[in-house]
Amino acid sequence: MHDPDSGDWPHTDDPRSNRSGAPSIGVVISRRALLAGLAAGAVVPLLRPAAAGAAGFPPVPAGVDGQDHVAAGHRRQVLLRWGDPLFDDAPAFAVDRQTAAAQARQFGYNCDYVAYFPLPAGSRSGEHGLLVVNHEYAIPALMFPGVAPGREATQALGPAEAAVEMAALGASVVEVRRAAGRWSVVPGRYTRRITATTPMALSGPAAGHPRLRTTADPEGRTVAGTFANCAGGETPWGTVLTAEENFHAFFGGAPGDDPASKRYGLDGRGWYSWWRHDPRFDLAKEPNEPNRFGWIVEFDPYDPTSVPVKRTALGRFKHEGATCAVSHDGRIALYQGDDERFEYVYKFVTARARTPGDRAADRDLLDAGTLYVARFHPDGRLEWLPLVHGRGPLTAENGFPDQATVVIEARRAADRLEATPMDRPEDVAVSATTGRVYVAMTNNSRRTAAQVDAANPRADNRHGHVIEIIPPMAGDGVDHAATEARWELFLVAGRPAVDPGTAYGRGSGPEDWLSCPDNLEFDPAGRLWIATDSGLAAGAADGLYLAVAEGAERGRVRRLFRAPVGAEVTGPAFTPDGRALFVSVQHPGASRGSSFERPSTRWPDFADGVPPRPSVVAITRDDGGPVGG
Ligand code: FEO
Ligand code: CA
Ligand code: CA
Ligand code: CA
Repeated sequence: MHDPDSGDWPHTDDPRSNRSGAPSIGVVISRRALLAGLAAGAVVPLLRPAAAGAAGFPPVPAGVDGQDHVAAGHRRQVLLRWGDPLFDDAPAFAVDRQTAAAQARQFGYNCDYVAYFPLPAGSRSGEHGLLVVNHEYAIPALMFPGVAPGREATQALGPAEAAVEMAALGASVVEVRRAAGRWSVVPGRYTRRITATTPMALSGPAAGHPRLRTTADPEGRTVAGTFANCAGGETPWGTVLTAEENFHAFFGGAPGDDPASKRYGLDGRGWYSWWRHDPRFDLAKEPNEPNRFGWIVEFDPYDPTSVPVKRTALGRFKHEGATCAVSHDGRIALYQGDDERFEYVYKFVTARARTPGDRAADRDLLDAGTLYVARFHPDGRLEWLPLVHGRGPLTAENGFPDQATVVIEARRAADRLEATPMDRPEDVAVSATTGRVYVAMTNNSRRTAAQVDAANPRADNRHGHVIEIIPPMAGDGVDHAATEARWELFLVAGRPAVDPGTAYGRGSGPEDWLSCPDNLEFDPAGRLWIATDSGLAAGAADGLYLAVAEGAERGRVRRLFRAPVGAEVTGPAFTPDGRALFVSVQHPGASRGSSFERPSTRWPDFADGVPPRPSVVAITRDDGGPVGG
């Protein structure tokens, strides 16, 4: 989501809701062992990539303007824009005739997470696949004519605009194909829009709990829709996870007396008008409805009729994303960040190992297991503390009568365990070649000098940092299920020689810096990519960077792509051959003072009367080789 300090835009990052203020593993395994392990499907052995980090492009210089820029030797194509028709019967985008019915058949607003699923399912095709794209939130002042920026005008919108917003959020599943070097959208049987009204199920320990029951759902087992979908993840069994982040922004009215309301920022102010038009978003009328949001939602992109499931075992907080790692024994570890100032890093470990080749057997794997929260020790140790009812302080006497309460109030449970409050934990990426885990801390300008610790080393941290977690080895594999690990700082962001405390890899040039890391992703060659969401904190547009993960230059970054003014870069997703990279350009033109009538950019159409349109961009290399060289 956009820089929460900018004030002009619907943002919901409320720092008040939290009251709290190594050595290398060095194991080398042969490629043969790696392939054998993949074939066996259970063990992920380690491999040091031969030339990890070698970058084959000149960096795009820092700067800001109304255009996007990609490094020399690469090209980019705008593939999916807000409002693009996705179905054969979908109406063309008409900015002056928006309806909820039309929007529900078109690509949604503020595209965020992108995942690529090959077609046919189970193949490694880099030519034909499904893109699953999240749509995080609405910006009415850039979507509709005559709406002033800010909360007041947004909350005054009528039911028609609110319904368009509901239809603009959630996710899209889009079939795409590459021919003659260009990507195109193929309306087909997989195409799907998921919105704030799509029927979904609740599963896991909180399903059916009294605090999840509402007028519309007296059983507490079904929910209408998802929204605030930020980043996500893919499971090894071919489903997608979409993360509900700033859900509290969509509720209003007099705050109820649910004990979790304050801790999740449900103060009744919200950002949108939904609660004025639909009682389920009115906290006074449906105090349990917000308890049905703030979850990880799993669905099968290959089955457009599948019912998405909110997996409550994974905990309720402002989920940035959910990144799967297969542990040495076949169990799944799901790493998750709670993106708010002074919130925590979590990990869920499944009770069972997966069953490679048997998709049905893995279907409900995420319903049983153990949720942990991280405590970072100054000596480089990391402890994963279990959020389990009855263990430690998580007892009935302390207000945790059951596991449902532990997951519904995961933040309060983590407080009791004295987890480490972090500088806004965003995305997580796990290296398939080393097993190391990278976690982006995007920023935290509210951290004081007295609150600085080893894992959050700067007061007034405006530019963020990236932490590397090193799980222990177990035989040939990595033990992602272990309750201890090591950690190190990977990089400390900001402008070198301008911002105090920055730290990058050896050999970094004057352009080799970034601000506010958000999304992380490894490409098929095992190289780490970092997308930023700085809101111009460093006076330069956001971008996508290749980061050297290992060796002498570890922590060096290089800018491949630069977004237009006001936008953050999200996604990213690679095809299995690494020859195409999909990124979202989210909230282009969302800079201070920008409006529908006078936007700071009209990217990507640059047509009079057409506002900026959040879009997914496909990046390829001129010679058809792997993106990034
Ligand atoms: Fe939606 Fe945490 O960025
Ligand atoms: Ca962000
Ligand atoms: Ca994000
Ligand atoms: Ca990611």
